[in-house]
Amino acid sequence: MAIDYALLEQQVRALLAGERDFIANAANFAAFVYHELPDVNWCGFYLASSPDQDLVLGPFSGRPACVRLPAGRGVCGAAASRGSTFVVDDVAAFADHIVCDTASRSEIVVPLTIGGAFAGVFDCDSPRLARFTDGDRDGIERLVRAFSESVHPPPAAVR
Ligand code: SME
Repeated sequence: MAIDYALLEQQVRALLAGERDFIANAANFAAFVYHELPDVNWCGFYLASSPDQDLVLGPFSGRPACVRLPAGRGVCGAAASRGSTFVVDDVAAFADHIVCDTASRSEIVVPLTIGGAFAGVFDCDSPRLARFTDGDRDGIERLVRAFSESVHPPPAAVR
């Protein structure tokens, strides 16, 4: 059954409304996505202030994970360097994949920008091959944008 990402986006915005603290909202966002998306075993953030720095583990839900991903390495580093979402249908076939949880079979990594500046990535792993469709990519990007706006809201539109 298709996931209703429009509804999930509304729920994310409601969950994070009224708080701008990065750690608090990132922690709740990761927990929300982890519990709402079917067939995921890890969801969370890797953070850095530019794509040429190591990515360091941030708030997440799932099993304890790799703490530091070298700059440009792994699926996370690829998404960070490229500045666009990376979907890997079979992590075993992605040579530079960094294994944190051996249960993970497919993965999506969405770059995170806050107020237009690179801040890291949001990563979700699944125990199912090819778990993340084009619809999931668009939907998860939409959720990550809602998170980003919760900690750095855009200026109100001029009427
Ligand atoms: N697999 C990722 C590392 C992070 S974990 O999946 C939580 C990668 O290759 O960048």
